[in-house]
Amino acid sequence: MDDLHRKKISRRTFLIVGAVTATAIALPPFICAQASAANLARPVQAKVSIQVNGEVHAMDLDTLTTLLDALREHLHLSGTKKGCDHGQCGACTVIADGRRINSCLTLAVMHEGSSITTIEGLGNPEKLHPMQAAFIKHDGYQCGYCTPGQICSAVAMLEEIRQGIPSHVSASLTEPPQLIARELQERMSGNICRCGAYSNIIEAITDVAEASA
Ligand code: FES
Ligand code: FES
Repeated sequence: MDDLHRKKISRRTFLIVGAVTATAIALPPFICAQASAANLARPVQAKVSIQVNGEVHAMDLDTLTTLLDALREHLHLSGTKKGCDHGQCGACTVIADGRRINSCLTLAVMHEGSSITTIEGLGNPEKLHPMQAAFIKHDGYQCGYCTPGQICSAVAMLEEIRQGIPSHVSASLTEPPQLIARELQERMSGNICRCGAYSNIIEAITDVAEASA
């Protein structure tokens, strides 16, 4: 499949094909006939109210709008990056009700009433979040494209450690997780850095973890 053809398969087309296929499998034939692709292709608008960085935003969105696109295209919070748009790179990581999520993999309408924190809500140039300051101190980036997602992920990840939530590599399921590189690397494995700043990123996270221990 060439690039041009691939671009033509939009998110909407993909979701519609998926929905039609699922409908065809789940429903009897006489109902399937009514669920035509033409009907599903029509955009459905919905009112969504989401708290973003402490401020409530009421939006009128196509129900297939991802949280990532709502943040970037509707609220113009472009700090959250679109990398793969497929849940594979972590560039779009935000914190939703205290948990880190890939905002490209979730629809905005699913977050009605949620509290979302993006990189813009963690700190600003005048008052940096300790994790932002540590990334600068340890040179935890090169191009910076993955950095907002890395920082949001790291902040929520340290909270998971503080709560004693074990990871795949934790030595014990009941003891507090250790603040060692292997533990941090495993927990940050969903955030890809094409520039390879991994060792500096781990140093920055370790710095913040030790300072707040
Ligand atoms: Fe969401 Fe890559 S853009 S995981
Ligand atoms: Fe360039 Fe991570 S700093 S992708």
